[in-house]
Amino acid sequence: MPSIPARHAIIDQAMALLDILHYPDPRLHKVAKPVEVVDERIRKLVADMAETMYKAPGVGLAATQVNVHERVIVIDTSDAHGQLRVLINPEIIWASEEKKVWEEGCLSVPDYYDNVERPDRIRVRALGVDGEPYEFDADGLLAVCVQHEMDHLLGKVFVQYLSPIKQTRVRTKMKKHQRETV
Ligand code: NI
Repeated sequence: MPSIPARHAIIDQAMALLDILHYPDPRLHKVAKPVEVVDERIRKLVADMAETMYKAPGVGLAATQVNVHERVIVIDTSDAHGQLRVLINPEIIWASEEKKVWEEGCLSVPDYYDNVERPDRIRVRALGVDGEPYEFDADGLLAVCVQHEMDHLLGKVFVQYLSPIKQTRVRTKMKKHQRETV
């Protein structure tokens, strides 16, 4: 069991699974507000978001996706899913000029993957679940994931980077998918 730094620890929380909004739900386009105080309510949200992400399974989840419009993200890009990162009020304080294309997916856009170009490396500042600020450098999948989740907090879903024709195609596919699964 890898040790988890205090800023990401979510022990002593009863967890619950949350419902994930699916594109093209208009609530995915709401802009999240900064968290004012990292209190028990936020720690419970973080615990529930982590459980929801692991169960899905996914590598990242933004509060927007569970219809909570506050700047909270959970990420775990580790293979064993044992390195939870909690990003509250995240900011990208540096991004490389070099960009890279990754095939992205999203828990709010089930069974759809497509290429998105983003800065290859970033430096991020955020509050942990302990309410303390911290910074980290990210590249590869982690850099992609942080940027993808931060877009969610701004009300942006990754398919919005695609051509209008592709976006229409994805919306049609998702509506069909929703009809089939309801
Ligand atoms: Ni997503």
